[in-house]
Amino acid sequence: TKFTWVDQETCIACGACGAAAPDIFDYNDEGIAYVILDGNQGNCEVRDELSDELEDASEGCPTESIKVSDHAFTEGMKIS
Ligand code: F3S
Repeated sequence: TKFTWVDQETCIACGACGAAAPDIFDYNDEGIAYVILDGNQGNCEVRDELSDELEDASEGCPTESIKVSDHAFTEGMKIS
């Protein structure tokens, strides 16, 4: 099981993550990505069926803005 969130401070709105993993990532009005599942909180489990998509997205992000962990992220680990 994985958890993920997007560091919106470093995301450059390149759009690769939503293409790689449309069930996980979407974009706000500025094109900045966020995790659909939990409003980018990083505390909702990504279903195992989506783990390949998640890996593709995180590896494909040019700014390494997609954070992935085996554990839920907590507020203190996030910039915004
Ligand atoms: Fe942003 Fe990376 Fe996605 S730059 S739009 S988080 S691929």
